[in-house]
Amino acid sequence: MNTRVYDEKIDINTEDAKKFWTKKGREHLSLKSVLLGVDKAEDAQKRRNEKESGILSSVVSNLPELRILDIGCGIGRWAENFKDNLDFYTGIDYSKGFIEYAKNRFAKYKNINFLELSICDIDKLNLKEKYNLIICTGVLMYINDSDIMRILKSFSDISPEYIYIQESISLMEGRLTLNNFESKELKTNYSAIYRTKAEYEEYYRQAGFRILKTDLLLDDETGGRKETNAQYWLLRG
Ligand SMILES: C[S@@+](CC[C@H](N)C(=O)[O-])C[C@H]1O[C@@H](n2cnc3c(N)ncnc32)[C@H](O)[C@@H]1O
Repeated sequence: MNTRVYDEKIDINTEDAKKFWTKKGREHLSLKSVLLGVDKAEDAQKRRNEKESGILSSVVSNLPELRILDIGCGIGRWAENFKDNLDFYTGIDYSKGFIEYAKNRFAKYKNINFLELSICDIDKLNLKEKYNLIICTGVLMYINDSDIMRILKSFSDISPEYIYIQESISLMEGRLTLNNFESKELKTNYSAIYRTKAEYEEYYRQAGFRILKTDLLLDDETGGRKETNAQYWLLRG
């Protein structure tokens, strides 16, 4: 089986992806557990987080209230970044270990909550207008094409003012899919879809999202590579 597939649209085994994140959730948890593959500089994860946090801070400072839904929240990186400015925050993730860790970590904050749930099931909750900012960082690469539009529609149904998405992308002409790829860096088999910027932007167009701001996130030291980087988009729903 070819485990590094260029251009062709193939599905990844999402159960394997879930197993990967469930296992990660049982390890010693830190920024390194959720910001994968950025090891070049010693403080790479911290620098990457600070840069990204700076980008979102400029949006957040214009909002009279801050009500965040963080989808695929991991250890609660965004709760940590904005804990002093939040009106309320809900983080959802399907990795039990991450959710338990995050609940403990923010136990003293009554306005910060975490829920074990898949991104595919947020439409089952009645979340309309409770949140003015949806954050979804590093999650859509684990979702197959057939589910993306339904998920973006569920974001839209919540009616947030802003949606912030950040995703690992392919810098090549076509996408790259790692299909049960034996990753030396992660020391395990790994599956993920590195779509192109154009592919994501076509999805946003179909979902009726307007792009307010977008750029690449990573430099050489913080995980940028020849074939892949991370792209962020600030969107209006
Ligand atoms: C790369 S980490 C990013 C974590 C966090 N968003 C951040 O930026 O710090 C990806 C996260 O997405 C979660 N995830 C992946 N697929 C998911 C799904 N279908 N439903 C819910 N969470 C998912 C993983 O458990 C993991 O916590």
